[in-house]
Amino acid sequence: MNRSELETTAKAMVAKGKGILAADESSGTIKKRFDTIKLESTEEARRTYRELLFTTPKAADYISGVICYDETLRQKTKDGVPFPQYLSKLGIIPGIKVDMGAKPFTNFPNETITEGLDGLRERLAEYYKLGARFAKWRAVIDIAQDIPTAFAIEANAHALARYAALCQEANIVPIVEPEVLMDGAHSIERCEEVTSNTLSEVFSQLHSHRIHLEGMILKPNMVISGKKAASRANAQQVAEATVRTLKRYVPGAVPGIAFLSGGQSAAEATEHLSLMNQMGPLPWALTFSYGRALQDEALKAWGGKPENFSAGQGAFARRARLTGLAQTGSYSS
Ligand code: 13P
Repeated sequence: MNRSELETTAKAMVAKGKGILAADESSGTIKKRFDTIKLESTEEARRTYRELLFTTPKAADYISGVICYDETLRQKTKDGVPFPQYLSKLGIIPGIKVDMGAKPFTNFPNETITEGLDGLRERLAEYYKLGARFAKWRAVIDIAQDIPTAFAIEANAHALARYAALCQEANIVPIVEPEVLMDGAHSIERCEEVTSNTLSEVFSQLHSHRIHLEGMILKPNMVISGKKAASRANAQQVAEATVRTLKRYVPGAVPGIAFLSGGQSAAEATEHLSLMNQMGPLPWALTFSYGRALQDEALKAWGGKPENFSAGQGAFARRARLTGLAQTGSYSS
């Protein structure tokens, strides 16, 4: 493990005014996204869409890194430049999703365990050669009656820590993503309780596995009401509950926290991030690692039509600029 290489990469991922584009939708997930614009998910359609995002003018002003899916890391621009090389040249760090998905957790009804540790050491070595300098692994914690169980949280945190250790061994910065879902009708207080238990267990496991905290990034959910909750907490309440929880459970040695958007609208996710950054000084950089909140408007503007390619890029550039402003607390809705 090269600690200083890991630290340099982690710091660059959360540089001032910038954040991460999560464009690592698996084949199944990108098909769902393309279904919303009635576009067939062929390999060429996926390549074209990723090219639209990656070649957006000025993207590098706001985007520090891109999380790719395995297929994307091996694809090229239409001019034949491999995507990882294209991104690196712009100063955007290529990253790779390495988990194999959240699978049913045997004996724990309605809970999942994320798989993908077998063979991970070898895959990481190949990804490093392809240009990836950080990785992502997502654990999923759902809130409903009687779940999550403490053991499902523990098993997922254990897998996250094993993944993080293998990444650091390969000089790849691990993004550690324990996502507490916002699906459901639960209150913000319930989300705070579950997020607290989850982060507490995750950092305990990271400690046991001797993870170099200065060489990792945390990707958590915000503390927020369930989507179907009868009365939902407002933006200021979300910002305060999230910062309070992170201060309690995330060591200051972690250089950065990059949120997922998790089903929030682009406007909500941008506003929440900006409000949190107005609450400084904070021990870590707070930024975004959004998928849907960065891409939804671009996908819609493009609609899969060649004549709308630059309209799609315009929509992506606008949202990237606004989330970049939110990273310094200077976005106002
Ligand atoms: P969303 O921002 O759409 O939640 O996606 C981020 C991500 O990478 C989830 O793993």
